[in-house]
Amino acid sequence: MWTTANIPDLTGKTAIVTGGNTGVGYETVKALYKAGATVIVAARDYGKAQAAIDAIQAAGPGRGQMSVGLLNLANLTSIGTFADAVKTDYNSLDILVNNAGVMIPPASTTDDGYELQFGVNFLGHFALTGHLLPLLQQAAHARVVTVSSGAAIRVDGIDFDNLRLEKPYDAWREYAVSKLADILFTRELDRKASGILSVAAHPGVTRTDLQRHIPAEELAGLFARFDTVMEPWQGALPQLYTATAPGIAGGAFYGPDGDQEFSGYPALSHYNTPAMQDEQLAARLWDYATEVTGIHFSF
Ligand SMILES: NC(=O)c1ccc[n+]([C@@H]2O[C@H](COP(=O)([O-])OP(=O)(O)OC[C@H]3O[C@@H](n4cnc5c(N)ncnc54)[C@H](OP(=O)(O)O)[C@@H]3O)[C@@H](O)[C@H]2O)c1
Repeated sequence: MWTTANIPDLTGKTAIVTGGNTGVGYETVKALYKAGATVIVAARDYGKAQAAIDAIQAAGPGRGQMSVGLLNLANLTSIGTFADAVKTDYNSLDILVNNAGVMIPPASTTDDGYELQFGVNFLGHFALTGHLLPLLQQAAHARVVTVSSGAAIRVDGIDFDNLRLEKPYDAWREYAVSKLADILFTRELDRKASGILSVAAHPGVTRTDLQRHIPAEELAGLFARFDTVMEPWQGALPQLYTATAPGIAGGAFYGPDGDQEFSGYPALSHYNTPAMQDEQLAARLWDYATEVTGIHFSF
């Protein structure tokens, strides 16, 4: 059973956790900091991120450092500005955790016009990773962990004619599309980037702010269907495991080891669908994202 007690010494390592102010992102920041890493808490609200840092420090000493980075993944300009600031302050990046996410919001778009879940959960992280690639390439064994979801198995492809809310909105379907896109991105990045480990993780079923768009009564009914709803410290373990443990397989997907991967401790995921393995779809998605973000990864 792998826990945060197994995290190796991260002194001298630099990490970014998107959405690090709450939920499993917060627990990821906390564990990396305790293990000695210098952690940038990338968040869209400065006050929330600083409050998270204060809470982590108040909970006990860590061996690393933490700072706030302002990042709105729903705005491509903000992503570039954040990355430029990181490049000014740091020469290399060891760990990038693409964790931030939004689930089933009312129909809405990013500032650049993409369906919000696709735009934040996938496209924003694609752009961010591309911007930061030169720093990742400077690290000895950099890792990019992209947080996906078991929901990725619920769709069998990506409708490229419906990424800007062109068709009637199906909130759960678009969430699943964004999380399938995260898996395809992970695999394609791992294929393309030598010297960088790209891996996906999911936190099973964990009680966080992610469920903010589900009405309270409905949420209670939903959670009642699961034997265990994990707390964020446990939900964060798969992404901490993939970010720090030895022997992680590039391009692979990890999650909790319990029944149907709803809860448990980190292990290779059994979630697998033809769409998740579709290399042509992954290549098409990469080309699409390159074109619409203008971010060309220079390998
Ligand atoms: N919880 C689960 O059961 C579960 C299951 C499967 C997958 N996941 C995935 O796990 C990841 C973390 O989710 P969580 O459960 O910890 O949810 P959470 O508590 O809601 O945290 C999500 C984080 O993403 C941030 N975020 C949202 N939109 C953003 C934007 N435009 N720019 C920058 N940051 C933004 C949020 O910021 P604010 O605080 O400012 O809103 C928050 O920090 C997500 O990718 C989610 O899809 C979670």
